[in-house]
Amino acid sequence: MIRLTIDGRRVESRNGEYLLTLARRAGIEIPTLCHHEAVEPAGACRLCMVEITRPQWNGWSKLVTACLYPAEEGLIVKTSTERVLRTRREVLELLLARSPRAEAVRRLAAQYGILEPKYAVDQEGDNCILCDICTRVCATHVTGAISRVNRGVAKKVATPFDEASDVCVGCMACARSCPTDAIAFSQDGATRAIWGKTFEVVPCTVCGAPTVTREQARWMAQRKGVAEEDFYVCDVCKVAKTGLSCRKVMW
Ligand code: SF4
Ligand code: FES
Repeated sequence: MIRLTIDGRRVESRNGEYLLTLARRAGIEIPTLCHHEAVEPAGACRLCMVEITRPQWNGWSKLVTACLYPAEEGLIVKTSTERVLRTRREVLELLLARSPRAEAVRRLAAQYGILEPKYAVDQEGDNCILCDICTRVCATHVTGAISRVNRGVAKKVATPFDEASDVCVGCMACARSCPTDAIAFSQDGATRAIWGKTFEVVPCTVCGAPTVTREQARWMAQRKGVAEEDFYVCDVCKVAKTGLSCRKVMW
C-alpha cells in the first residue's frame, strides 16, 4: 500500500493510481480540461498542476500534472499553493486568448478571477483547445478517423487532408466528449452530418426513434460478430424488451 498526503489529508493507493484520481476520491477538486474517464490521460491542458515535495527535499518542490503523476510513498502533494494557482491562471489566460468563446474555458477562467485575458485575443479562434480528448476517444474506442494535424498555430484536429473520412462511422463520440463543444455537426431528422460526411440515422425497429448510423451499426456488428440489425433498437426499447424477458423468466 502506498501512503501519501494531499493537502494534509492522508490518502492510500494500492496500485500507484494518478494523483488526480486520489485527490478526487478524497473530495479535493482539481480543475481539468483534457481529462476524460474513457481514455488514458495525456497531460495536454496543464490545468491540473499540483506541487509535490518530500521532507528530505529540504524545502524544494516541483510542479507536476496530477492526471499523469503516479502515487509515491511519502509524497506530500499540495493542490492550491500560490505557485499552483499562479500557474493555473497563466494556463487559463492562454486558453482564454485562444478560445475566447469556449464556455468551459470562460467558466473556469472566471473562477480564477480572469474575465479578459492579458494576451491578445484570437478573434478568429475557434473553441478547440487541443485537449485531444476527441482524437483519443476515437482512436481508443472507434475507428481513429481524426487526429491532430499541422504544427504551431496551425495545429488543429481534422480528418486526413480535411476530406470526408473513409473510416468515420458518424458515431458522434468525438463531439459528445469534447469539453468545449468545438466539433461542428448537424442532425436533421434522420440525417446527420459531421466531419464533412453525411449519414443516415436508422429508426428503431420497435418505436421509430433514431438509433445509430448504418455505418456505426455495421462496424459494431463486425467487431462483435452479431447481426447489424441488433443495433437498430433504441435504448428505451432494449430496456423494455429486457424487462419483459425477465418477467417471463421470473413468473
Ligand atoms: S475538438 Fe474538442 S475534444 Fe477535440 S481537441 Fe478540440 S477541444 Fe479537445
Ligand atoms: S487534466 Fe492534467 S494536463 Fe489536462
